[in-house]
Amino acid sequence: QKDEPLKGKKVLISAGPTREVLDPVRFFSNRSSGKMGFALADAAAELGAEVTVVAGPTDVQLEYARIKRVDVVSAEDMYTAIHEEFPHSDIVIKAAAVADYRPKQTFTEKMKKTGSDLLVEMERTKDILKSLGEEKSNQFLVGFAAETQTPLEYGKGKLEKKKLDAIVINNVAVDGAGFAGDTNIVTYLNKSLQQENLPLASKKDIAKKLWEFIIRDMKDENK
Ligand code: PMT
Repeated sequence: QKDEPLKGKKVLISAGPTREVLDPVRFFSNRSSGKMGFALADAAAELGAEVTVVAGPTDVQLEYARIKRVDVVSAEDMYTAIHEEFPHSDIVIKAAAVADYRPKQTFTEKMKKTGSDLLVEMERTKDILKSLGEEKSNQFLVGFAAETQTPLEYGKGKLEKKKLDAIVINNVAVDGAGFAGDTNIVTYLNKSLQQENLPLASKKDIAKKLWEFIIRDMKDENK
């Protein structure tokens, strides 16, 4: 008999970068590979959950074909896809590295270079996680925080400001943590400010540990 503590639960995970287009050949993006989010999705499927992943552009593959994958490109696309799935989800984890800014103007033809400097005006994208915190009914909502300075302090700020149930904080300035690699170093912080430090390990192992904490905290809230 397999232990499936997430059986009957609908899990929604965002993963990977977003891509904010400037013209047909240029875009702004970041170094997220999708590995952390995909590891969380695979681990959830192993624990019996029905999983949906909303993924920005990535070459990384999910292990389980039964996971529903929705591919998106921009922060705006991700906002729409996540909000479509959110109302019928039980647990939502936002591991994606969503662009905070996008070019104010996009061009349908390739921009021509001139002899002078180029100034690209950027505008804010919507904060998807914050909007979920405001809209949530019974969902257990987990955010990520990618920080390079005083990670715990900034992470705690995001936990409170975005009305999260828990946050996973990674100091992306440390070797072996954060973007692109196969490993991470994280701190899980729940809304009672109970803190769990996970030292250097593969993203797959970190994902399994994170699910243990989430399942524990959901039980404490009778969810
Ligand atoms: O994909 P990998 O290469 O495996 O790397 C993993 C990771 C470093 C990307 C991952 O562990 C991680 O930290 N993801 C969050 C990255 C991030 O954008 O952090 P942030 O501190 O800028 O954002 C805080 C939270 O708000 C995140 O949950 C983010 O998804 C969310 N957000 C941010 C901006 C925005 N417009 N909408 C959002 O929902």
